[in-house]
Amino acid sequence: MSSVPILKPKSRPAPHQDRSRSFAALSGSSAPAVFAAKLENVSLRYGRGEEILRDVNFALPAGSMSFLTGPSGAGKSSLMRLMYMALAPSRGLISLFDQDLAVAAPPLQRAIRRRIGVVLQDFSLIEHLSVFENVALPLRVSGTARSVYTPDVIELLDWVGLGHRLHARPATLSGGEKQRAAIARAVIAKPDLLLADEPTGNVDPAMGARLIRLLTEMNRMGTTVLIATHDHDLIPGGARTFSLKSGHVEQIG
Ligand SMILES: Nc1ncnc2c1ncn2[C@@H]1O[C@H](COP(=O)(O)OP(=O)(O)O)[C@@H](O)[C@H]1O
Ligand SMILES: [Mg+2]
Repeated sequence: MSSVPILKPKSRPAPHQDRSRSFAALSGSSAPAVFAAKLENVSLRYGRGEEILRDVNFALPAGSMSFLTGPSGAGKSSLMRLMYMALAPSRGLISLFDQDLAVAAPPLQRAIRRRIGVVLQDFSLIEHLSVFENVALPLRVSGTARSVYTPDVIELLDWVGLGHRLHARPATLSGGEKQRAAIARAVIAKPDLLLADEPTGNVDPAMGARLIRLLTEMNRMGTTVLIATHDHDLIPGGARTFSLKSGHVEQIG
């Protein structure tokens, strides 16, 4: 099988390296993070509802690849929302790249957020942009020149089987095509932490295996990866695995 395109060595600096430098300046430290994410006694409730996460303790060592399983409704997506800062915990401590979010000033929070790639269950593609423009967006935002990112975006979209859909609008894509576009957008800027919420829920098993391989190769290049899935068949033997049940997270593999 062909190698994953954007992971080939490049002569230019990767955009995330530039971002790491500005992050280091903001956080006053250039030491590499020990943990990409760490949750200590974290609880979460929506409004006045029950706590759906209770005293969750778990950590993703920098450079690790892990799976998060649990039945539908267990709170996997909610846990991920905490980790990409879309939600704040009701109780407990969350740190990302060894920075305590509760005391991080807004510019540092934004710098942290820019180091995280997310694949959401509902894809969250921007409807008025083409597939190409959706996937190029993280690079455009980071200031990469169009002439530099265009070949990378096309190559990655080819690799996930969307080379013929570059100019399509998200509304005209199938669920599986949207999922592949969402994954391409999440990995194109080589984030330091990649959170993928049921990333293969809409594709056939062969494409599912190909997408997991993409995430695995991202991990080999240094990205910390967390994949949430209710599908145990997706989890390779021996993988670092957490189970979320009744509000608690437990390491099961
Ligand atoms: N925005 C929300 N407001 C209120 N309750 C929510 C919201 N999102 C999720 N929930 C509830 O939180 C629980 C966990 O949901 P979710 O995190 O989506 O689980 P999973 O991803 O494991 O299926 C469910 O009971 C769900 O109904
Ligand atoms: Mg979910």
